[in-house]
Amino acid sequence: MFTGMGNQSESNDMITADYNEVRLNDLNHFLHPYTHFDTFKKDGSAVMVKSEGVYVWDSNGNRYLDGIGGLWCVNIGHGRTEIAEAIAEQARRMCYYTSFGATTNIPASNLAKKIAELAPGFLNHVFFSLSGSEAIDVAMRLVHYYQGCRKKPYKKHFISRKGAYHGATLAAASLTGAESSRQPEFQYLTDFIHHVSNPNPYRRPDGMTEEEFCEVLIKELEEKILELGPDNVAAFFAEPIMGAGGVIVPPRSYHRKTWEVCKKYDILYISDEVVTAFGRLGHMFASKDVFDIQPDIITSAKGLSSGYVPLAATIFSDEIWDVISAPNPDHLFACGYTYSGHPVSCAAALKNIEILEREKICEHVRDVGPYLEEKLNTLRDLPIVGDVRGSHFMMGIESVKNPETKEFFQKETMIGSRIAKKCQEFGLIVRPVGNFNVISPPLILKRNQIDDLVLALRKGIEGVVNELKKQGVM
Ligand SMILES: Cc1ncc(COP(=O)(O)O)c(C=O)c1O
Repeated sequence: MFTGMGNQSESNDMITADYNEVRLNDLNHFLHPYTHFDTFKKDGSAVMVKSEGVYVWDSNGNRYLDGIGGLWCVNIGHGRTEIAEAIAEQARRMCYYTSFGATTNIPASNLAKKIAELAPGFLNHVFFSLSGSEAIDVAMRLVHYYQGCRKKPYKKHFISRKGAYHGATLAAASLTGAESSRQPEFQYLTDFIHHVSNPNPYRRPDGMTEEEFCEVLIKELEEKILELGPDNVAAFFAEPIMGAGGVIVPPRSYHRKTWEVCKKYDILYISDEVVTAFGRLGHMFASKDVFDIQPDIITSAKGLSSGYVPLAATIFSDEIWDVISAPNPDHLFACGYTYSGHPVSCAAALKNIEILEREKICEHVRDVGPYLEEKLNTLRDLPIVGDVRGSHFMMGIESVKNPETKEFFQKETMIGSRIAKKCQEFGLIVRPVGNFNVISPPLILKRNQIDDLVLALRKGIEGVVNELKKQGVM
């Protein structure tokens, strides 16, 4: 819930509405994603009404620095009229037409080609959907179909990691290993989905170096493959940097070594770049450029359209294409969404990529990202900051009761939420996830705005520390 105490800097074109009515309708009828019902019913929702550049305004006219880029997605920043115009133009020309079977549209066709040019290696084929979760579901179905076409239907098991976040559809939620997303009241698919350990170096066993930790993880993956039988394992899923599971950067050689294990056993490597693609780590895609691996499939969403309209892409290799499209009158790739290749979404994404390239936003992230990392690391002097981690514009802070022992705060302390709430008083939005706060701002953030962000975060954390001391929690 927003405190409504951000910077009192009114935007001059705030829309007027009966916000009490908006809140009431919301409370009575809108089930939000990831709702904690007790707090939702008590506090209701903040109504966000306008956004521009790196800022967002609530219905009270408070301005906030958007430290989370909407939800790791508004990469080119808010309020781009060029995108609005591209959307309007396409909607006027042709709002929608199906892409099922052999009908296409100009933006979808052009965007598929553009993505194939940008994606590493032989990832030259794209299946469009509307969300990261769907991109993951499609990857799973595509892999099954591919293995089926290869006459290996038993090669159907997937390996994911504890701590991973892959989405909220039944399949993507089952692949997800982040504890906070796996609530016992839900059911999950378990027949063909398995999880290995979280590669979080901060929580590695005491006395173990990062290299030793990495070796343990690689051994565990290989043992899991052998236990299931290499002929039964279809694919390994991994985010280059885990996002919602706590911004976890694995040990340095982890990705390369897991990839090598996959190649050894004919297992497809699927890189979930829903957050990392389109600039967040300073490259259009991080798998090859940052982590030196050539995935068989990349899933992307978020920064693909910078959140202006929903769009996702499952990008896959020539090798998979050759197998699934080999002549066979009985084969039908019976997978598709009404809105696959939606012309309006694709027109927006083309314009978004044009802006990313024209304004050299990846270069900007490579230039300024280390400054954001350096400034956030100055917060380590605060008594509850246990870890500051991440890379470039994908950062996070883990709060602990005691940085020496890494002791967790009790769940009821809701430390991440308290920090997020307090930061709003200083005009900053950061995202709480358990004992953790995410910082994933729009990629156009400038150095002076990074200074503002880090100062507001410092004040927010200091404010919470003072409260905890008063309450005797520390
Ligand atoms: C790595 C990753 N994969 C998949 C998803 C799911 O994307 P969506 O929320 O668009 O369904 C997310 C969402 O945050 C994500 O971070």
